[in-house]
Amino acid sequence: MKREKFGSRIGFILISAGCAIGLGNVWRFPYITGQYGGAAFVLIYLLCLVLLGLPIMIMEFSIGRGAGCSIAKALDRLEPLGTKWHWYKWFGMAGNYLLMMFYTTIGGWLLIYLFKMGAGSFEGMDAAQIEGEFGELMGQPVLMTVCMAIVVVMCFGIVSLGLQKGVEGITKIMMVMLLVLLIVLAVRSIMLPGATAGLKFYLLPDFNKMKEAGIMEVVSAAMNQSFFTLSLGIGAMAIFGSYIDKKRRLAGEAVAITVLDTSVALISGLIIFPASFAFGVNPDSGPNLIFITLPNIFNSMAGGRLWGAIFFLCMFFASASTIIAVFENIIAFAMDLTGCSRGKAVAINLVAILLLSMPCVLGYNVLSGFAPFGEGTAILDLEDFIVSNNLLPLGSLVYVLFCTTRYGWGWDNFLAEANSGEGPKFPKWVRPYVTYIVPLIVIFLFVQGYWSKFAG
Ligand code: PHE
Repeated sequence: MKREKFGSRIGFILISAGCAIGLGNVWRFPYITGQYGGAAFVLIYLLCLVLLGLPIMIMEFSIGRGAGCSIAKALDRLEPLGTKWHWYKWFGMAGNYLLMMFYTTIGGWLLIYLFKMGAGSFEGMDAAQIEGEFGELMGQPVLMTVCMAIVVVMCFGIVSLGLQKGVEGITKIMMVMLLVLLIVLAVRSIMLPGATAGLKFYLLPDFNKMKEAGIMEVVSAAMNQSFFTLSLGIGAMAIFGSYIDKKRRLAGEAVAITVLDTSVALISGLIIFPASFAFGVNPDSGPNLIFITLPNIFNSMAGGRLWGAIFFLCMFFASASTIIAVFENIIAFAMDLTGCSRGKAVAINLVAILLLSMPCVLGYNVLSGFAPFGEGTAILDLEDFIVSNNLLPLGSLVYVLFCTTRYGWGWDNFLAEANSGEGPKFPKWVRPYVTYIVPLIVIFLFVQGYWSKFAG
């Protein structure tokens, strides 16, 4: 069977950006920034993106393109004879499934909020009622399951159409619409009276706020956020490397994708912070920020019903493009591993993902007695923790070691792959930095993350 390829370079960039741009940008980034005190966090996050995320993304793409397949077989093909790097595939795949196990539920919430906003259901409600509305939704497992299932079926439907017709065709349109709508929303938000306080919070670093939270905790949160937002460490990006030819060097492509991803995160902040401050709301409410704080804000805004609906449409596009991309990876993994057809891989995984998504849905109602990290936390938090604080940084570490040591694929093979084609080169002189410093930083911040979560 001939392997599918992307139809165009722009398709590759937009699909990879679609995988990267997701809840991490529009939901996680603003609320973490809100919690850790604004601009100072943003600064550290940007450093993590450039110093850690970017080289690791180039490595993921190189491995995918060098092997020409998903992580089901990629490390098997590239590793020296007799080594066990390929065991990583199970770890990576577990990451993809675990991520989807909570992502689909949030996708379902966004769908509900999109409809509610559009239908004007929040109009005339006060803050307590809006908060109650979210609480009520959490108590409705059937509604949540139906919406989650709609998202899952829709995204698998698109993946089943094939790489070019389904994934590339639809994601490209969604991404372009997303970018345009986000800019419109940001302009609207910045023009609100009183928006400047929000801009200050967001753009002027205040390191005192960071000291309160503990500097190292903030830095390790920034690293995890940078891996999460760039989709690194579990083969979710490697797959798209396997669908391109060798015409372009990979460093330039990775820069383009990182810039797109970062722009969307920064623009989401430009929407949320000015609007929060303009309406006197503190943006530090955590994960509830977009479901409780924002509907409130739209309520008090002229034309808020329309702006709110556009906002949730953006959120929905961002999450759907990520779900489609990760489903594509899951399907490719199954096809590479077993040689089955796309249709069969979709059918089996559709059922599997529907079932696997249930614990997260039920975690807010039937199973709400289970609070993995203490009061107020649910199964979603546990799944998110396993993926974001463990699989992504450790998986990224595997990539770095695989590409830099001679016990793995090795530096020369990696560099030759990354630098074949045209475009900016991945410079040779960064070798000592990526070989020794990057792994040390990742390990240190990984341990630090545990320390601040459980001992601090
Ligand atoms: N990057 C995605 C987001 O920002 C999440 C993701 C992480 C996707 C890891 C794939 C792999 O929402």
